[in-house]
Formats: sequence, C-alpha cells, structure tokens
Amino acid sequence: MSRKPKRPTSSPPAGAAPAEGVLILDFGSQYTQLIARRVRECGVYSEIVPHGLTAAEAAARRPTALILSGGPASVTAEGSPACDPALFDLGLPILGICYGMQLTAQVLGGRVWAAPRREYGHAMLHVGPRGDLFHGLAAQMAVWMSHGDEVTEVPPGFAVIARTATSPVAAMADAKRRIYGLQFHPEVVHTPRGKEILRNFLFRIAGCRGRWSPLSFIETTVAQVRETVGPERVLCAASGGVDSSVLAALLHRAIGDQLQCVFINNGLLRKNEAADVRRTFREALGIRLDYVDAAAAFLKRLRGVTSPERKRRIIGSVFVRVFEQEARRLGMPRFLAQGTLYPDVIESRSPLGGPSATIKTHHNVGGLPRNLRFRLVEPLRYLFKDEVRRVGEELGVPAAIVWRHPFPGPGLAVRIIGDVNTRKLRILREADAIFIEELRRAGLYPKVWQALAVLLPVKAVGVMGDERTYANVIALRAVTSRDGMTADWARLPHKALATIAGRIINEVQGVNRVVYDVSSKPPSTIEWE
Ligand code: XMP
Repeated sequence: MSRKPKRPTSSPPAGAAPAEGVLILDFGSQYTQLIARRVRECGVYSEIVPHGLTAAEAAARRPTALILSGGPASVTAEGSPACDPALFDLGLPILGICYGMQLTAQVLGGRVWAAPRREYGHAMLHVGPRGDLFHGLAAQMAVWMSHGDEVTEVPPGFAVIARTATSPVAAMADAKRRIYGLQFHPEVVHTPRGKEILRNFLFRIAGCRGRWSPLSFIETTVAQVRETVGPERVLCAASGGVDSSVLAALLHRAIGDQLQCVFINNGLLRKNEAADVRRTFREALGIRLDYVDAAAAFLKRLRGVTSPERKRRIIGSVFVRVFEQEARRLGMPRFLAQGTLYPDVIESRSPLGGPSATIKTHHNVGGLPRNLRFRLVEPLRYLFKDEVRRVGEELGVPAAIVWRHPFPGPGLAVRIIGDVNTRKLRILREADAIFIEELRRAGLYPKVWQALAVLLPVKAVGVMGDERTYANVIALRAVTSRDGMTADWARLPHKALATIAGRIINEVQGVNRVVYDVSSKPPSTIEWE
C-alpha cells in the first residue's frame, strides 16, 4: 500500500507502508489484531482500518486484498456495523470472517438468520470441493466457532465449500470473483490449520508474494524517516525500555547524529539502571545520550504524597518540565520521536466508538509536552511489540534490552506503597535486584511477562540471631501474560522462591519478611498502585 506520509503537525508521519498489503476492516472482534498478526507472520503487511472505510478510500490505498473481521453484533440487528457495498465491486480478493462472512452474504443477496443459540467452541469442519482456499488440507479439520448469526442461503454466484454438523454453510466461495467467507475463526490457535487457510487466501487466491519482514521494514522506514526529517534534528526521550531503545536505534540508523536522545533520571529507577542505560547507548548502540539527573526535583515534589494517582500526576508534570528545559537547552529540535506502537494506535480509535483509549492514558510513559510545537516521528506505529523486538534484534540492540520486562514510567514510586523517600527506595532497589538476578540465574526471567518487588507500608516482627526485629515486608509479584491486559500469577518453583526470599531477608537491611502475590488480573492489577 503506497501512502505518502502526511506532513502537518497533527498527523504524524506514517511508518513504512509497503507496496503489498492487506486491509482488514474492523467490525469490533476481539480477534481483529490476531488476524493482522497472522497475515504479517505470513510475510504480508497488513493494516487494520475502520469498517466505515469507503470503496474509494480503500482503492486509493491500493491493497492487494481485503479481509472483513468478525464482530460481536448481529447483521440482522438494526444499526449493526455495515460496510460500503461498493467494496465488493473493486475486483479485489475478499475474505469475510464470521461477521464479515455474514455481512458479505447479506450485502450480495444471500440470507442470514439470527440463530436462537450462539455456537461457541470447537467444531469439526467437513470440506466440500477443496478449491483454492482449502488447498492441501484434509477433508476434515477442527475449527473454532463463535457466532450467533448463520448464513442460510449463499448469494448468487457462491457455492457452499464446507459445513459442520450445526452449520450447513460453514464456508462459502465465489471463486470467479475471488470472494470467500468463513463462519469460523482461522486466526485463533484453536483452529490448528487456520494459518494454512489464510496462506491459501493470501498466496493462491490474492497472489501475494510475502516479502514483508522486520528487515524490509527497517529498509523502508529508514528511507522514509530520512525523507521526512531532511536536515533537521530529532529529539527522543530514552527510558532504557524496549520501545524507546529500538526507536532510538532505528532513528540513529536513519539520521545518525541528527538524533538527540535525552535520558532523564527521575530517581525512581532500579539499581544501576541509569549507569546501564548510559553504557548501553554509548558502547552497544553508539548513540549520543544527553543525561539529566533530575532525581532531587522528583523526590522533592513526591515528599509526603501517598495517593497513587497524585504520584503519577506529579511525576508526569515534573517529567514534562525537565524535558522542556532540555529541549530548549538543545535549541529546540524540530521533530520529536515517540515510541507509539500499533496496539496504541488501534486502541485509541476503537471501531465501535468504545472508551478503550481512556483505560491506558496513565500507561503512556510520562506524557510528552504538547504545547511545544514539535512535529512527530513515530516509525514504530505500525508494529506489534514482538515485531519491535525482532526489529531491535536486527538493529543490534542488546538482548538484555530487547527481552526486558516492561517497567512503568513512574518507576519504583508505584511500587512503594505510601510515601516515597530515599531510604525506602534503597530497600526496594536491593530487593528488586536480588529478585531479578535470581530469576535470571534460574532461567525463569524469560518465562514471565513481568516480575517486581513491592515495599509494603507495614512492619512485621521477626527474629534474627537472638534479637527480635521489627522491620519491613517485601511482596514479590511475577506474572505471565500476553499483553499486560490480563495476567496470571506465575507458578514460580518453590526452590527459586526460597532462594530469593532467603537472600532478600539476609542481604537487605530493613527487611525481615517476604510474601508472594498470588492474585490474577483481573481483578487485581499487575502493579500494586
Ligand atoms: P497494571 O498495573 O495496570 O499494569 O495491570 C499493566 C502494565 O502497565 C504497566 N504500568 C504502567 N506503565 N506508566 C507506565 O508507563 C504507568 O503509570 C503504569 N502503570 C502500570 C505495568 O507495569 C504493566 O506492565
């Protein structure tokens, strides 16, 4: 899809939109992102677009094919999300999935029935004539169903190409027009051969070539950034996390020393973190890093503050102030780089107008200054997290950064329950460092999504030697997750937990008790504050 980057300040320059690509019209399914990922895993660039995209808008982006996603609504209900019927006249290959298939049937003159009971779960698919979509696959296969509506009569020109015991039209095809529909979800792992069905659609039917990869992304993005930025300088706030480090490495590849990275030490970082980030940028990435030690300013403003949201707001506002000062000191570079990722882009324009954007506002690290008239560069805005990691590996970002657990912008301030001071920070830093070190030693670090230590605002009684102690309690939390939106507590081996607790109690002065958090999200969040 060839698209020119838009120039005005309000529209950030696009990432790399390659010559071949699939547009996925989003009808609100929880699986829409998964479709996009599966298509990209096949080496074909894909983008999710609102279902209201007109045929003219779609054509202007010159996609290779269209996919219509599933969705929670019923096509028979009034006001359910529709699409421009002219999309079907563009001559493009189209695959409708679940709601997308029912809509296809309805628009093209078939019949759809709102079944009294939803069908949800595994089903056995019986394939009729194999055709291109099921090419190379067995006559029977397990598939995953999740639908209320059913197609009862296919539109003129279509044939039924698969059925299940309960769905007489589980797949339909108009091979001549290259329009297909699947009642089940090929994108989920519960449809084990689903990826092959998608591959058949992309390569046999739509004639894709499948040359998209993180490497090709780097080449096109580098060229695009150079064109957008020209001789200007780009300011980038580095945090030492995955996204901002990969962002910096990518921009550095594109524009070298026109990139100006700023790293603000807010005094709420983990043990040795500031030194590690500075060393990595200097030695492994060769990127100039402007280091600002603003710890005192942050800690002063946080003194006596106990409310988690107030802490976040204070940290956000001090960050913006310090960042602005630095930007001015550096002579106000024209561009500001942001590590926005694709899920943020999608979430902030929920297809059905939902409120998903507001849930995550506090997760957007720091919140960079809005009033300074920067133009934005957001080269990662079309990538998923795992793709960012692969790009990082290609760019030579050290594995310790690429595979790092997420760390919140407000840092240890939201892991010290109650008010924050340097004594508490010292205790938490030591405990956290031991926890992470032992997880790495036991090979457990890559197996958990995030691991953290929390300093509780209570004291407990203990005994050390012959002496009674009255000291702090540390809570350990480790979770498994796919995306941080839901999480389960990690079943860490007791042996590892024993070693970690033993070391923390023995080595961290001021701690005499360690507990392990066994709550899932929801209802508990990952962080304690
Ligand atoms: P929760 O605690 O909401 O966390 O389950 C989900 C993910 O978001 C991270 N998190 C934050 N990140 N600023 C950030 O940049 C924040 O204020 C913030 N709060 C939570 C958290 O570490 C987890 O990865």
